[in-house]
Amino acid sequence: MKKLATTTVSVTARRDLRNDYYSLTFGPYPRVTKCRPGQFVHIRLPETDILFRRAMSIASVDTDRREIEIIFKVVGRGTTVLSRYRKGDQVDLLGPLGNTFSLPKKSERALLLGGGVGYPPLLYMATHMVRSGFDPKSIEFFYGGRSDRDILDRTRIKKLGVNFHPVTEDGSFGQKGLITHAVESFIQGQKKDRMRIFACGPEPMLKAVDDLGLREGINGELSLEAPMPCGIGVCLGCVVPLKQGGHARVCADGPVFAIGEVIL
Ligand SMILES: Cc1cc2nc3c(=O)[nH]c(=O)nc-3n(C[C@H](O)[C@H](O)[C@H](O)COP(=O)(O)OP(=O)(O)OC[C@H]3O[C@@H](n4cnc5c(N)ncnc54)[C@H](O)[C@@H]3O)c2cc1C
Ligand code: FES
Repeated sequence: MKKLATTTVSVTARRDLRNDYYSLTFGPYPRVTKCRPGQFVHIRLPETDILFRRAMSIASVDTDRREIEIIFKVVGRGTTVLSRYRKGDQVDLLGPLGNTFSLPKKSERALLLGGGVGYPPLLYMATHMVRSGFDPKSIEFFYGGRSDRDILDRTRIKKLGVNFHPVTEDGSFGQKGLITHAVESFIQGQKKDRMRIFACGPEPMLKAVDDLGLREGINGELSLEAPMPCGIGVCLGCVVPLKQGGHARVCADGPVFAIGEVIL
């Protein structure tokens, strides 16, 4: 079993990313070198009536400064509390938790699909791949949202040098439609056995990506979200059914699963 550690860290930066999205950076984080794309941290909130920690994907790491970043959207009480943190506030983190995206082969084209608040782990994956020597032009970064205001950090993504494909449902920025439709048009006429998909987003999107991967014969991985009371594989509050039978814990066996593995 992995060694688990809770750590008290300080907020070192807070960015308001507009449209109720925020970025928080924490440090010094002693476990920064242990972090990998796909993993998450479980954050304790100071309010005594908020029982459960909140899971947040790691969006970036800075090993020199020993910092990690999360990006989130305010949707309820937990994220409202998180959005009120300011520089210098102390936070209790458990992690890094969960398994990781696997790196593709250097000869493969990586299709990274981030939908809405599923974008942070794909940002980390793209950055990690570029830093690990992958050709940025072998990375297709699809980022889907409802409208222009949902597509964050554009300059940051472009600076990585990856092929950036923004997609919005209302067509206010990038291609119009659903992210999976944009991917479907992109892969037409291309060598699909040399492609790998990595995706995180809302469940209907992940189901559509799973179907697409199976239909087109493209291997890949999906990062799932589930309610996570403990986050460490003990309570079974996060289980999902597997296609081969049985169940898996999203927190400890995931959150990353192969395309075709989970019943979505
Ligand atoms: C692996 C993983 C990674 C995630 N990464 C991100 C991310 O990068 N960015 C992002 O914006 N969101 C992320 N989420 C979702 C995030 O953890 C929150 O659940 C979500 O933002 C809900 O917001 P809230 O806490 O404000 O909602 P609330 O309204 O406070 O909570 C929503 C409901 O869920 C219940 N709930 C909340 N937390 C838990 C828990 N731990 N266990 C059981 N029930 C719970 C609450 O009781 C309530 O009923 C991730 C979730 C998982 C599992
Ligand atoms: S959250 Fe408790 S087992 Fe996964």
